[in-house]
Amino acid sequence: MRETLSLTVNGDLIETSAPTHYTLLETLRYILGLTGSKQGCDKGDCGACTVLLDGEAILSCILPVQEAAGRSVVTVEGLAGGPRPSPLQDALDLTGGAQCGFCTPGILCSATQLLAGNGSPTRDEIEHALSGNLCRCTGYTKIFEAVELAAAACRSGRTAGEVLAARAEGG
Ligand code: FES
Ligand code: FES
Repeated sequence: MRETLSLTVNGDLIETSAPTHYTLLETLRYILGLTGSKQGCDKGDCGACTVLLDGEAILSCILPVQEAAGRSVVTVEGLAGGPRPSPLQDALDLTGGAQCGFCTPGILCSATQLLAGNGSPTRDEIEHALSGNLCRCTGYTKIFEAVELAAAACRSGRTAGEVLAARAEGG
């Protein structure tokens, strides 16, 4: 059985028909072709499927798609909001916070929610915000540094690269 529903995805109002047993993640990946959100454990343990639902980071692998009807979903594909990467994406790239990258889309969504409500997060607050996002590759330190760098860039109105360059010059 399928059901027609409408939701906003990355700023576009979409009407789609999904099997009634589908999760939001399955709908994003297998119907809408948005494969940035990853299907890791598929049972709510790893955070790879994290997207923003009305601005809140949620696990899309355990959310029935009907619960997203009429709401706004932002996936990693929509985080930048334009052709340039977001400050957080830039920072993660510059710090080497992404290796295999499987965890990266979910981490970007969780960290985006954090920075939207807190422009100067402490290391503890960053660790707490990302505690549901498992990464097997990086040891987390570079990821935490990336979130701090993105926050500094947003506070100063500079790019992450400019903040790093200024630090290298002692500024
Ligand atoms: S794929 Fe959703 S939490 Fe692991
Ligand atoms: S970069 Fe590989 S799991 Fe995080």
